[in-house]
Parts: sequence; structure tokens; C-alpha cells
Amino acid sequence: MIYFDNAATTMLKPPSVAQAVAAAINEFGGAGRGVHEASLASGMAIYNARAAIAHLLGAPDPKHVCFALNVTEALNCAIAGLLHAGDHAITTAASHNSVLRPLYRKVDEEGVQLDVLPVAPDASIDYAAFEALFRPNTKAVVATHASNLTGDVYDIARMAAIAHDHGALFVLDAAQTAGSVPTNMVELGVDVLCFTGHKSLFGPQGTGGLCLGEGVDLPAFKEGGSGTHSYDRRHPDFYPEHLEAGTLNGHGIAGLAAGVAFIEGVGVEAIHRHTLALSDRFETGVRDLPGVRIYGGHADVDRTGIVALNIGDVDSGAVSDLLNAEYGICTRAGAHCAPLMHKALGTEGPGAVRFSFGYLNTEEEVDEGIRAIAEIVAEVA
Ligand code: ALA
Repeated sequence: MIYFDNAATTMLKPPSVAQAVAAAINEFGGAGRGVHEASLASGMAIYNARAAIAHLLGAPDPKHVCFALNVTEALNCAIAGLLHAGDHAITTAASHNSVLRPLYRKVDEEGVQLDVLPVAPDASIDYAAFEALFRPNTKAVVATHASNLTGDVYDIARMAAIAHDHGALFVLDAAQTAGSVPTNMVELGVDVLCFTGHKSLFGPQGTGGLCLGEGVDLPAFKEGGSGTHSYDRRHPDFYPEHLEAGTLNGHGIAGLAAGVAFIEGVGVEAIHRHTLALSDRFETGVRDLPGVRIYGGHADVDRTGIVALNIGDVDSGAVSDLLNAEYGICTRAGAHCAPLMHKALGTEGPGAVRFSFGYLNTEEEVDEGIRAIAEIVAEVA
């Protein structure tokens, strides 16, 4: 099997990740639920993971790194807490449904006002048009760092500065970039950074969270056991417990910490360079084949290791199925939970075949991918 679906979940992980999960599963008790060795082991590992994530993503305070199931839950927490009747929010058409659907719910059920910045057919956005969307009641911008369809990385420092000029908070969906594109939330001016563990942080599924900037406070998103202050009627108002409830996924978080340690060892810049070299190699190998159309990724923007393409008018699902069945190559076809991006690119009908390369893919695998596309092109031409 050749795995090119890293934008969905990295399947090839450093061996240390599985080792950390395997060790934790028989060593961890419930963090914050006792003073015995097993509980302390879990608590210590979880705190160390918060510190490692804060360091990697430039978050100001490890205690304000709060764990969640994934980036979707983190975004739901931020959007639910920040936006209320009378508020205006802005997002972009590059957003994933994990941003769009919680925002649409706010619009439908609470009367929040929403503007969606269009994306051009080349996947770019117009930053002047973005600024023109602000209103006196704009409370927050919720935007993706990089498109999960094309890999285009957006200028978050510029967008966050504009948001702050207008008194709005900036919430970043870093699902596609945390661990694979250099990201420092303080330098970018991000107020809430939402991340997922199972993509380029190399962690297990079921890990993710949100990092809060200085002075940012959100209401509790879920309530329940916190391990301390059990006689209080309400969930604790101190962090990180304020945004966490119930026993955390300590086993998964131990794996996530191992993934982060691997990234720190290699360096995010080196990971970014290597992944881009793989996607560039692939793109160079397929872009001139007859009928191949590649989306986004115009030359003057940074990218993640994604190449999304179609072959003539063949449905993306058919191509992706063929890649899997005939070549053992895993890609993702269809809509990628990014409906507005597909509309912008004109791929609402066929979808697109997304190749997403990871740091642990090899040039030989990429060459197999090029060969497969060349053969499919020859077949359908
Ligand atoms: N959001 C993930 C993807 O792009 C699942 O595939």
C-alpha cells in the first residue's frame, strides 16, 4: 500500500508514537484523579504534552492548551463560546465544514451574522475584500491556515492584523498545518488556535485541542468531572480544566507527545521542505499529462504537501477507486468536507482526487503515483 491520504490522517507515524501509546495503555491511571503512581504518570505525561504543544505552536501558556477530541470539537468549542446573537463573524470559502457548520448553526439558531470571503478559481483570496467585510459588531474571524483541498496556505499574520485593527478576535483552524508548516500563534497574532493530533502532528485519532492566547477566555463547552473542586456546583473556571471534562485520552495524548517530540527533532522547516519537495515532484510529473487539471497552488503562495487533480471529466471517485484497486495507492476523492472551496474551483460535480503527501512518504512512492496517473490517463484518453 502507498499512503497518500495524510491530509485526512497520517497513517505512517514515527514508531515512537505507537510505542508511547502501548506503554501508556498499561501504565496510566486517570490524570488528576489520585496521588498514586499511575494517576501521576498520566497527569505528568499530559502536562508535558501541553508544554510540548505550546512550544511547537508558539502558544503563550501550556495551562491554556486544552485538549479535545479533534480540531472539530475544538472549533465547536471556540465558535459556541465566542459568537452570540447580534455578533458578526467572518470566514472564508476555504473553510472546512468543521468551521462552516458550527457557524451556520449560529446563524440559523441565534441570529449571528456571517460573511464568507470568496475564494477565486485559483484558490487565492483578496485581502482588501476581506478587510471590507468588517462591521462594528464583528466579533471574530474563523479561518483556515491552509486549504484541505488545494494545500494553499493563507496569509494569517495579515488577516489577524486586520481583524485586530477592527477589534475582532482571530480563530485559526490549523488542522492542515500544525506540525508541517511553521506556526507560531503569538507571531501570527492568533487568539485561538485549534489543532488536531492525527494529521501532521503524527498523533492518534481522538487527540486535538485548542490553544488560547493571552487574555482570551471561553465559557466551558462541556461540564462534568474535573477531579478537583467536586463540591462546586459549576465546572472549574481555571485552565486547562475549564475547557476539559471527564477523563482525558491520556493514552492518545502520550502518543501525540511522541509525535510532537519527533517533529521537534526533525524541525518543522525541514518537514515542510521535504513534504513540499514530494508534492512538487509529483506535480511536475503529472501536470503536463493530457487532460490532467491541478487545482490551486499558484506559484506565489506557500503550500502544504497536497496536489488535487482531475483527469478530463472522469469522476474523482472513479479515479481514486482505480488508484486503490489497481495500484494500492490511497487518495481521497469527492468533496473533502469543503463544499465552498469545491464550488469556487468549479469541482462541485466531479470532486477532485487529492494526493496528500506526508513527511514519511518517499520519492519512490511518489514516482509510483506519477506512473499510475500516467497509465490511467492513457487508459481514459
Ligand atoms: N478534514 C480531513 C480531510 O481533509 C478529514 O480529509
